[in-house]
Amino acid sequence: MRNAIAGAALCLAFASSQAVAADASAGKLLFDRHCAECHAPGFGHPGTQQLGWTRGAERAVLEQRKDLAAAYVSAIVRNGLVEMPGFRPTEISNANLKVLAEYVAGAGKKRGSR
Ligand code: HEC
Repeated sequence: MRNAIAGAALCLAFASSQAVAADASAGKLLFDRHCAECHAPGFGHPGTQQLGWTRGAERAVLEQRKDLAAAYVSAIVRNGLVEMPGFRPTEISNANLKVLAEYVAGAGKKRGSR
């Protein structure tokens, strides 16, 4: 019951165009919705594949990177990069981009030692 309520609250927060709380779970939701198709680990994801070729295998998976700054991630998301399309503010709001970029910049750092 408690989980159902928490889940509903999360869905509401996600559906709203307002800034969502800057926590990792909101960032992860945004990543899964907009980025995972190309940047999830494993074969068949063009972003992961391309980064593996151009940056090296240890830099292929975005969520495991320790070398990405939030400002860099935001710039790439807005402008795109080679085959990666840019995302407009109508697709990812500025507030959500901030949450997403902080998530991507921090995700790999939390997992391993710095
Ligand atoms: C349609 C596929 C696609 C989607 C969707 C996509 N990307 Fe990418 N992304 C790529 C590709 C391909 C590259 C590699 C570009 C290159 O050749 O350098 C890339 C590169 C990047 C880089 C540069 C990493 C580096 O080492 O310089 C960042 C950061 C990034 N993507 C973040 C994101 C984020 C965050 C999202 C979600 C909002 C996202 N991407 C969505 C395909 C995608």
